Amino acid sequence: MYRRLILSCLLALLIGTLHLKCNNSSDKTSGTKYKQYYIKGESLYTVHCSNCHQKDGSGLGLLYPPLNQSDYMASNKQKVICIIRNGLQGEIKVNGKVYNKVMPPIPSLSDIEVAQIATYIYNTWTHQEGLMEVKDVSAVLQNCNTN
Ligand code: HEC
Repeated sequence: MYRRLILSCLLALLIGTLHLKCNNSSDKTSGTKYKQYYIKGESLYTVHCSNCHQKDGSGLGLLYPPLNQSDYMASNKQKVICIIRNGLQGEIKVNGKVYNKVMPPIPSLSDIEVAQIATYIYNTWTHQEGLMEVKDVSAVLQNCNTN
């Protein structure tokens, strides 16, 4: 009698745990994949981007625009994915300030590296866009010239 009760409790516990695990891995900001992308993205950012945009994403005067709180990033998600690999030049406006400098391309970045950097910059400071999957990023990268 008691044994059956204990057994069904254990079963309920097990199902509960499994359920939790499934929920977690599909969550856009707490799954293992998200964490891997984010951690890898952070170190790539340090190597390739922080010289100009700074570790805290604040940029540098009117030379390098900020990523922290950037309204440009918020409204140009696809374009930013292209910029990460292809660079950017010409006049842009970020948070009301005009920039007209050159960001050099980094052609050596693979699609997954671009996705990892995008995941990092879009989930740090004020941005909360969740995981940027490599398959979605690849699709955007293929259409960069036509954007
Ligand atoms: C040599 C300095 C330099 C490096 C390195 C660099 N950028 Fe930039 N970035 C710039 C400049 C300058 C602009 C503005 C270009 C313009 O005026 O058209 C810019 C623009 C941007 C923008 C759009 C504007 C904004 O502030 O939202 C994003 C996003 C961005 N960079 C992200 C990155 C990321 C991510 C990396 C690393 C993969 C990177 N940049 C590396 C100099 C740099």
